[in-house]
Amino acid sequence: MCGIVGYVGHRNSTEILLDGLRRLEYRGYDSAGLAVLGGRGVTIVRAQGKLKALEEKLKQHWPQGPLGIGHTRWATHGRPSETNAHPHQAGPIVLVHNGIIENYQELRHFLAKKGHTIKSETDTEIVCHLIQQRLYDGLSMEQAFHHVLGELRGSYALVVMNTNEPGRLYVARQGSPLVIGVGKGESFAASDVSAFLPYTRQAIFLEDNDWGMLSASQAVFYDRKGNRVKRPLKKIVWNQTQAEKGGFKHFMLKEICEQPRILMDTLANRTVEKQKRVFLEGVAKVLKGKFPYNKIYIIACGTSYHAGLVGKYLIEEMARLPVMVDQASEFRYRRPIIDRRTLLIAISQSGETADTLAALKEAKSQGAKIISICNVIDASIPRASHATLYTRAGPEIGVASTKAFTTQVAVLILLALHLGRGQGKISSGFVDEAISALLRVPSQMEWILKRSKSIEAMAKKYAKRSSFLYFGRGVNFPIALEGALKLKEISYIHAEGYSAGEMKHGPIALIDKGMPVVVLAPQDKTYEKVLSNIAEVKARGASVIAVGTEGDRELARHVDDLLLIPPAPWYVTPLLESIPMQLLAYHMAICRGTDVDQPRNLAKSVTVE
Ligand code: G6P
Repeated sequence: MCGIVGYVGHRNSTEILLDGLRRLEYRGYDSAGLAVLGGRGVTIVRAQGKLKALEEKLKQHWPQGPLGIGHTRWATHGRPSETNAHPHQAGPIVLVHNGIIENYQELRHFLAKKGHTIKSETDTEIVCHLIQQRLYDGLSMEQAFHHVLGELRGSYALVVMNTNEPGRLYVARQGSPLVIGVGKGESFAASDVSAFLPYTRQAIFLEDNDWGMLSASQAVFYDRKGNRVKRPLKKIVWNQTQAEKGGFKHFMLKEICEQPRILMDTLANRTVEKQKRVFLEGVAKVLKGKFPYNKIYIIACGTSYHAGLVGKYLIEEMARLPVMVDQASEFRYRRPIIDRRTLLIAISQSGETADTLAALKEAKSQGAKIISICNVIDASIPRASHATLYTRAGPEIGVASTKAFTTQVAVLILLALHLGRGQGKISSGFVDEAISALLRVPSQMEWILKRSKSIEAMAKKYAKRSSFLYFGRGVNFPIALEGALKLKEISYIHAEGYSAGEMKHGPIALIDKGMPVVVLAPQDKTYEKVLSNIAEVKARGASVIAVGTEGDRELARHVDDLLLIPPAPWYVTPLLESIPMQLLAYHMAICRGTDVDQPRNLAKSVTVE
């Protein structure tokens, strides 16, 4: 996830672009850059690190010109560096991009054959060269841009300038956000309205596949086929902070709601339908050939630890390999049995958690091979690993982790499929079905999000309760732990997650009249047993809130409140169940008036022991 901004008008664009980038910095901050077109041609200034580094550089030379584009980066392809920072240029084409071009390898080969020299490791630079190539082929700029959009697979928001066309910006959107600001004699393009709110409150929200041109006085848009389209002009009534949150009240809610789109990015170019295999860039070398490891450890902390627990069920079932999951803080002070035949998977959103990093280093020094699953490119944990699978969730601002968790689980599903196939324990047909099931998840998540009003009402009903129990079995057990953790973290309500089978060994003693018990009850192989557990807690007076499968009338008869998820295979349900768990915790916190994004005593990244 990156922040992009473009300006065409009557003022000097450097100030406007920088101001916009400052407001977009929450979207990414590992490098930044801008390009300004003035009387003396184009000036491009880029810097690695936070926006401050770019500002320092600009002090030496402040570009002048009424047309410009800017970018603040969250690395996906290519490490954070000045060379990989945007804007990218090929001849007269200079552009900024947010998203992932899935077929960039293929396009890179094509361009190399045509004699283009690609300087960066990014997928973005390819787009500049492609447009340049189509200009060489004799197309006009407008035709070239439209043609190239048809060649790209993946997600993008693009703002492009052609240095031979001062006064004009080209824009396009597919899967990544792009909003146009319409001012008096000036136009803006940005990832969100916060970038241009001080200048105009008139905005046009582009739809997927829209593309077009902006000048100081005009904005023209087309659809994929090239037909002219009109998009309504909307007046923005949000204040600045709301705007950064895309109109959502909290970053946490925004991050919950963006999971369908984010998940598409996580799966992008790793799953191709009908290919019967998953593509895991980065770990190929470590996992190549016959599996040389005799055991797997997964280590992590907090929410990432719960993702690790899901990983155990997935890998053991699909690949039939033994997996032990440890909290990193425990692992590092035990004497785990590690040798060269140990594969250790470290999971971390931030890539900086002190315990996870220390445990990883310890295991590495004893000969283990290390794969990390991480969100932040080039953070300490990926740097200390032999290979990394990035979750591509974009910056997570809310302290309570949401989208980082579901993307970790998605990556673990892919890894389990990869290992399962490598071990010959699952068929290519199974992988094929799993890929189709995974690709359905974003729309299934949308389905759940659309029905979230009922969760709000439910939260009101239970918000005054002081204690909750969460039960799940099998792969749903870690989701019970995670659901309880979310509730504790942001609403400060006491909550315990248990495996439903363990209930009779203690927690059942807590149940009295009206005690809320959240039960994960999808229709998988543990369903019947979970129904019995529900009967047992109901008999003791509990109020049961169940998460069940759409159309499950039997379950509806036995519970007080029912949250639905669409039917899905067992290994996909953790992704779907997570959404009602997150929303329930969120709305409970709202009812109790707590600080959702920055709950007391917690930190986003724990970099001390
Ligand atoms: C903190 C955060 C949690 C997170 C945990 C592990 O406790 O508040 O949300 O799950 O650290 O962080 P990591 O970055 O390693 O996933």
